[in-house]
Amino acid sequence: MDIILVDNYRELSENAAAIVADEVNRRQTPVLGLATGSTPEGMYAQLIKKFQKKKVDFSNSITFNLDEYAGLSPEHPQSYHYYMYRNFFDHINIKPRNINIPYCEDQDIDDACREYDRKIIEAGGIDLQILGIGINGHIGFNEPGEYLYTGTHLVDLTEETIDANSRFFNSREDVPQQAITMGVGSIMHAEKILVMACGKNKARAIQLMCCGKVTTKLPASLLQLHRSVTLLADREAASLL
Ligand code: F6R
Repeated sequence: MDIILVDNYRELSENAAAIVADEVNRRQTPVLGLATGSTPEGMYAQLIKKFQKKKVDFSNSITFNLDEYAGLSPEHPQSYHYYMYRNFFDHINIKPRNINIPYCEDQDIDDACREYDRKIIEAGGIDLQILGIGINGHIGFNEPGEYLYTGTHLVDLTEETIDANSRFFNSREDVPQQAITMGVGSIMHAEKILVMACGKNKARAIQLMCCGKVTTKLPASLLQLHRSVTLLADREAASLL
């Protein structure tokens, strides 16, 4: 695992944006796996700046988001659909048909998940997967547990995740209890993975991700088995390494 240490959030965002832009510029049809949450917000802002300066072109990019809350409409301000359009897609030249975010409205949930996996395979798999990390070590919404799923699936969010994400909602009761997430198989099949982490509250998860046992009880620890992972972290998140 390569580790890039930065001093602050701005540097974290600039470094991440440079890595994504390089990947997009050197491929004919870049396939990006994208994350939401507070960590990559600055990266999206930097990528928009690069796009405006004509330093990166997303016209051939295909994107797959990691996850979405179950039961929130795409128009809901806390949905990951809303987040992605507001923070990124509305400001770049990606083709709408190339944007993929897990969603299930009228369809059977298993069918929706299989279709998502099929689309990832059809696109040739993910070239660069961006990940944040939960304080409990989750990646996407693959929560710690006795077992993990390889494909896209419906997941019950843990109390820790509901607590952590309640900061985005009016109250804890408003946080959905379930989500659709890409499975660890799709993540692990990505050619390259970039994990972004900032802040003291991620230090323990980052320590276990890099140096702990490989265990389903800390899903990010599986990344030790991947051949091309870069951890981009500020000094606080990396303080226990
Ligand atoms: C979001 C996602 C999650 C977040 C993680 C960290 O799409 O997949 O795994 O990356 O919960 O969230 P933040 O960045 O808000 O600390």
